[in-house]
Parts: sequence; structure tokens; C-alpha cells
Amino acid sequence: MSALHGKKILLGITGSIAAYKAASLVRLLIKAGAEVQVLMTAAATDFITPLTLATLSRNKVHTDVASGDSWNNHVEMGLWADAMVLAPLTATTLAKLSHGICDNIIAATYLSARCPVFFAPAMDLDMWKHPATLENVGRLKGFGNQLIPVGTGELASGLIGEGRMAEPEAIVKVLSGHFAYAQSLKGKRVLVTAGPTYEPVDPVRFIGNRSSGKMGIAIADELNARGAAVHLVLGPSALSPSRPGVEVTRVGTAREMYKAATEVFGRCDAAVLAAAVADYRPAEAADQKIKKEGEEMSLRLIRNPDIAAALGQTKAAHQRLIGFALETQNGLENAKAKLARKNLDLIVLNSLADTGAGFNHDTNKITLLSKGNKKREFELKFKTAVAVDIVNALQDLWG
Ligand code: PMT
Repeated sequence: MSALHGKKILLGITGSIAAYKAASLVRLLIKAGAEVQVLMTAAATDFITPLTLATLSRNKVHTDVASGDSWNNHVEMGLWADAMVLAPLTATTLAKLSHGICDNIIAATYLSARCPVFFAPAMDLDMWKHPATLENVGRLKGFGNQLIPVGTGELASGLIGEGRMAEPEAIVKVLSGHFAYAQSLKGKRVLVTAGPTYEPVDPVRFIGNRSSGKMGIAIADELNARGAAVHLVLGPSALSPSRPGVEVTRVGTAREMYKAATEVFGRCDAAVLAAAVADYRPAEAADQKIKKEGEEMSLRLIRNPDIAAALGQTKAAHQRLIGFALETQNGLENAKAKLARKNLDLIVLNSLADTGAGFNHDTNKITLLSKGNKKREFELKFKTAVAVDIVNALQDLWG
């Protein structure tokens, strides 16, 4: 069955000669089992009739915020859709959307839509290359909208070059890829740990570390984007996941993290342990602020429970366990030892010896080591992209 089956697609058509291709696009979407509602700007109706699109989509076509004495509820349409596709998107509507100018049904619905938005521009060569257009495309991408790249070929003006709207088949492929991706981990439940732990010394001081939580949060978001149910156990971090579907339990100490993680792991299919957990904690945390006395002071530290090792011991045959190794020297040897000792299926090595890797940076550089010591090295990337590599590796572990 196509990944588009049962999906609700809003198609926004603007005034370009490429609007004629929208008829094939609607036909292909319907054939793939999608439900389609079409919105058109007034200019688009000069190129293709609403009647054609209403017939193909089997739905009324909306060309204005109000028609006759009825109001077309753009807010409702924006909430109805699983995806909004703007094809063809002219330079004018692109500019309006990029600046939030809301003077037609497509702009009004775009601003109300909570679903992913895909846009397939269509314009002449020089318009496409103009810095204003490039800036507007960049703005839409910055809002999280996905560009479906223009094609190259003969344009309506007779010029040859970039600017043609992507073919309907290519647009359908992008959409099916999106929905297939979004369902690829459906039915899986994954525990993620992230952030530092704070081990109290007294009511005002603690032993902590420099973890921001960025790496683990990016992994939680990526898992959720692929349809997994995600339980994130997050140490003291100023950050939160960007996807509202991620369930978060905030904890302070290693023991609190241990309790939260061991409680949910039994219900999970996998765990990814990105937290920087303190190995030791003060044997006693003072009830009152410790006063300055004498030239020296000693703190007696005792071992914290090892979450990864505990989960490794109880791991069932269907469960997969991914740990991290944060090293400053002998990275590979230490990571291999942790992989075996904690009964992990995979370990993610990151080394503070690599510039831009480890704590707090937006980037990381990782090496994946699996059982049997199979090694894969990756370049320095944004943590969001590193999360994609790690979740791909988890999917490979499930085969
Ligand atoms: O949060 P960021 O600023 O984005 O930084 C990301 C990170 C550097 C914290 C992350 O990429 C990372 O390396 N996390 C693991 C840090 C760590 O504590 O490594 P470790 O080598 O000490 O621990 C090995 C593994 O055992 C880790 O999966 C750790 O979560 C786990 N562990 C360790 C101790 C403990 N008591 N319980 C554990 O579960």
C-alpha cells in the first residue's frame, strides 16, 4: 500500500503556466489513495479551471477566503491536512509567504497550517536566480518548509535553465518518502537518556558536568519524527525537545535517572543512553550550606548505579541497547571495553580530542562500534544530522 494512502493533502496552486501540471499531480495523489483539497489564487484560475481540479480531487476547490455568503475556514483546512503542498509556487506568493503577508486563501491557510509544508517553485531563469527569490526560499526553508527543487530545461519564456516546477511524479515521490519515513518506527517505543546529572554537595552546590542535553534531545526528536513513541529521561538542561510527541521525565541526580530509566525500559524496544551520568556522588549531602573553614576540605564520594550496565543485564532478546562513550584518550579501546562490559549492541564514541565534538557544541563527530567490533567513522556534523545516523544504525540493528 502506498505511504500516501489515507493521507490528507492540501494542494495550493498559484498563477504560473506550470499550473497545468497540477491536474496530473492531483490525479496521481488520488490514485495513491490520498484525500486532496485544492486551494487556488485568483491568478491560478487564469491557467487552469477550478472545475477541472474539483472533478479530479472530488472536492470543492477554494479560491478565496470567502465565497458568496460563506466563509472558507482556512484554519480548519490548515488543521485538517497531514501535509500542505504549494505547487506551482510563484515568486509573488513565495515572497508573501516568506513575510507572512496574508491576502489570499493560500497564504491564510499556510499561516494556519500545523502540518509539514512542501513547496515546488516555478518561475523563469532570472527570477529564480534573483537574490530576492533566493532569500525568500531560504526564509521558507528556515521555517522548516521543504523545498522540492526546481528542474532544468526549456522555460515558458524560451530561455533554457533552472526554474521549471518539479514533475508531478517527483512531487509524489517526495511526499510518499516523507510519509514512509514518518511511519518507519511506528509501533516501537524507545527510551532516551540525555543531559548531565547534578549530585548535591549541600543545598547550594553540586557535582555536575558540561552536558547540555543537545545530543540526546536530537535523538529523541529524530526517533519521534520516524513515528516511535519516545520516553526521554532528561537531566538538568535548559533545553526541551522540539517535537511535542516526546514524553519527558526531568530528573536531577544519577539515582533519579536510574529509577526513571529502569522503570520504563521493560516496556521499551530499545534505549539510547546519551546522558553524561556522574559515576560518583558525595557520600553525604549536607543539609545546610557548608561553611568555609580551614585551608582544605575533602569530599568522600561513592559510586552511582550504572544505568547502561543495569539495562544491559535485564535486556530481553528483542531489545536493543545503544550507549555512548565520551573519551579524552584511547577512545577506541575504552569504547570497546564499555560495549562489552555494559552488554550494549552498539556504542557511539565521541572524543573531546576532536574539535567541535562532545559537550555543548551544536556539532559532534562520532564513530559507531558494534558487537564484533565493526567500526564506522562519521564526519563532523550538526547534532541533528548525527541523530539521523544514530537512528539509522538503530534501525539496522532491528534488521
Ligand atoms: O549533551 P551534549 O552537550 O549534547 O553532549 C553530548 C554528550 C557529549 C554528553 C554525549 O554525546 C555523550 O558522550 N554522552 C555520554 C557521556 C558519558 O557519560 O560517557 P561515559 O563514557 O562516561 O559513559 C558510557 C555510557 O554509560 C554512556 O552511555 C552513559 O550514558 C552510560 N552511563 C554512565 C555512567 C552511569 N552511571 N550510568 C550510565 O548509564
